Amino acid sequence: MTFAVTESTVVLGIETSCDETAVAVVMGGTDVLSSVVASQLDEHARFGGVVPEIASRAHLEALPHVTVQALAEAKIDLSRIDAVAATVGPGLIGALLVGVSAAKATALALAVPFVGVNHLEAHLYAALLDEPNAEFPLLFGLVSGGHTLFVEMTNHDSYRVVGQTIDDAAGEAFDKVARFLGLAYPGGLAIDNAATRGNDKAINFPRAMLNDGFNVSFSGLKTAVINYVRANPAVSTDDVAASFQRAAVDVLVHKARRAAREINARTIALGGGVAANSLLRREITTAGHADGMAVVLPSREMCTDNAAMIASAGWYCLRRGEVSSLDAGANPNLKLGVAQR
Ligand code: KG4
Ligand code: ZN
Repeated sequence: MTFAVTESTVVLGIETSCDETAVAVVMGGTDVLSSVVASQLDEHARFGGVVPEIASRAHLEALPHVTVQALAEAKIDLSRIDAVAATVGPGLIGALLVGVSAAKATALALAVPFVGVNHLEAHLYAALLDEPNAEFPLLFGLVSGGHTLFVEMTNHDSYRVVGQTIDDAAGEAFDKVARFLGLAYPGGLAIDNAATRGNDKAINFPRAMLNDGFNVSFSGLKTAVINYVRANPAVSTDDVAASFQRAAVDVLVHKARRAAREINARTIALGGGVAANSLLRREITTAGHADGMAVVLPSREMCTDNAAMIASAGWYCLRRGEVSSLDAGANPNLKLGVAQR
C-alpha cells in the first residue's frame, strides 16, 4: 500500500500493553493534539502489582470512552484519522490484544492503514516529541518498570543494545523497595518524594558492577536495603529512600555516560517511567552536558506509558513505509529492532 506521510498526517495511537489504557491523536509525528491516559492503578493497588486478567478486562471497559475523549480533546472527527497505531508488544498478551484488536477494527472501518508499534521504541519517541531533530549517534536509556536498556541508535530504526539489567528493571527496584518501606504503590514517585526529605548520604548502599561493562544489576541493591532496614528498624524511611535513590541513580548515570562515550554519542535520551525521577533528570543532564552531549528528556507525563508516544512512533514507521497487515498479531516478548510486521 502506498501512503504519503506528511506533517499533516494524523495518527490515532492506542496503548494497552500493561496497566494504562491510553489513546492519543498526534499530527505530523510530534504535534500532540490529545493524549488521554486512564490508569488502572486503583484496580491493581491492593494486589501490590499488575494482575493480567484484571488489566485485560479494564482495558476492554475503558477503551471506548478513552477513545471518545481523545477525539473530543483533539477536536477532530474520526474521518480525519489517516492511520491507526497500536502497541503490539512487549507487554501482557491479553492486554495487548485488546488494543491491537480495537486498532485493527478502527483501521478497517475507516479504510486507513494499521501500524503495529514496539512499546520500547515508542518510549524513545516520547523523548523526541519535544526534540525531533536530536542528533545521532544517540544513546537511548530506557528505564521503566519492565525494562532497563542502553541502546545505541545511529539513526531512526537502527537499534543496538549495548547494555541491560541482568536482574530487576530500574523501576521494579524502586517499586520493590517502596513496597518494603510501606510507601505508596507504584513506588517510584513515592521514593522520589520521600527522598526530598531524606539525607542521601545517610547509608552507603552498594553500586553493583560500576566499572564492569554496560550491564546493570539492581537486585543486590534491593537486598541491601532490606537487610539494612531489618538490622536498623529505627532508621528514617526518608533517609533510606534518599540513599537508595542516590545509589540507583549513580549506577544509571554512570553506565549511561560510559555507554554514551563508547559510541561517541551526540545525544543522550531517556525514556520510561524512571526517567521521571527528579534526581536522575538532574544528574544525567549535568553528566551529558559535561561531556558535550545534548540531553533529551521527555516531559514527566510522557515518561510513563501513554499513547502519544505510540502515535508518534507509528508516524515514523509509516514514514519509512511500514504498514502492518491486519493479520499481524501481538508479541508479548517483542525485542527492540525486530520487525513485527
Ligand atoms: O514506563 P512505565 O510507565 O511502565 C513500563 O513500561 O514499565 O514505568 C513505570 C515505572 C514504575 O516502576 C514506577 O515506579 C516508575 O516507572 N516511576 C518512577 C517515577 N515515576 C514512575 N521511578 C522513579 N522516580 C519516579 N519519579
Ligand atoms: Zn512503558
